[in-house]
Amino acid sequence: MGQKKTILRALAGETQAVPPIWMMRQAGRYLPEYRATRAQAGDFLSLCYNPELAAEVTLQPIRRYGFDAAILFADILLVPQALGAELWFVTGEGPRLSTITTEADFAKIGPASDVHETLNPIYETVRILSRGLPSETTLIGFAGAPWTVATYMIAGRGTPDQGPAHALMQENTALFEALLARITEATIHYLSAQIEAGAEVVKIFDSWAGSLKGVAFEKYALEPAREITAALKARHPGIPVIGFPREAGEKYVGFHKATGVDCVALDNSVDPEWAAAQVQVDGCVQGNLASRHMVTGGEELVADTRRIVQAFSKGPHIFNLGHGITPDANPDNVQLMIDTVRAGGTG
Ligand code: CP3
Repeated sequence: MGQKKTILRALAGETQAVPPIWMMRQAGRYLPEYRATRAQAGDFLSLCYNPELAAEVTLQPIRRYGFDAAILFADILLVPQALGAELWFVTGEGPRLSTITTEADFAKIGPASDVHETLNPIYETVRILSRGLPSETTLIGFAGAPWTVATYMIAGRGTPDQGPAHALMQENTALFEALLARITEATIHYLSAQIEAGAEVVKIFDSWAGSLKGVAFEKYALEPAREITAALKARHPGIPVIGFPREAGEKYVGFHKATGVDCVALDNSVDPEWAAAQVQVDGCVQGNLASRHMVTGGEELVADTRRIVQAFSKGPHIFNLGHGITPDANPDNVQLMIDTVRAGGTG
């Protein structure tokens, strides 16, 4: 009893008196120690490709808070870069990439199996972490979902409504689908190599799944997640997969069954009581405290944390935020959230 790590127990379907906890973007700018290491590395991408320093920032929130999981420090946009897209980050604005809107642009994108050449330092980070993590901490690898990655590759940047990607889907469906297929294949290579290097769980971030409606959600959110999950489980039997179709709303219902993922991560726009009845019935769920509480703290943080722990207490649950923590968060509020969860939501 108690041999298996708490995160793996939740992913195996076990209901626990105290849910395990980690936090999206837990290694990030809200932590002074992250800012110091990032300054040492230079820019964000240099940090991602420096295995020693990337492992160091991954470990910082584990040392400070004792989270139950560590998530590899990297970015979903490294896959497009490894496929040959140009990638850079504009301070205060976000990512920029060379765009793909024509067959000629797509022809410049490399074969999926070539991504390892660029991504080898990331696998080295995973190996360092796999050796250096406390024995009770689970190592989570990750990649972006094909649709979300495609929205950045098509537009060349983040977009409020994913307009350019929707336009390409309508105007040149064949090109759009060829791009999605290439990203899907590259993602299988990338996640498989992370697992071989020591990742114990992988998470697929579909941050923009919410803008896919009707049949488009089935074809471009469910189907790629199903394909990636099936390929990984065929190569690495038993590897747990977390899916995060952010803002999927009603479409969270049935996501476990449609894709084969072991856990569905929920954003904070869904009601925890609703999600317990409609989504957790099919398996483990992760989430879903609003990130703003990490800025504002206080009684509201405690009340919402307790409510979420309570709502999901009758099934497998991993406590997390509904989206990444923001740079303006107060590290003390993170501790308050953890203390509240570990008091069983009643403390
Ligand atoms: O969760 C973690 O701690 C693991 C590392 C991680 C990062 N990005 C580090 C990062 C993960 C899992 C991601 C995922 C990611 N990256 C997503 C999907 C999840 C989501 O947030 O919706 C997306 C869409 C990206 C692309 C991306 N990377 C954007 C849009 C930005 C700029 C916005 C911002 O927060 O500045 C990034 C940069 C980024 N990725 C940072 C971090 C810690 C900030 C970089 C810095 O230090 O300046």
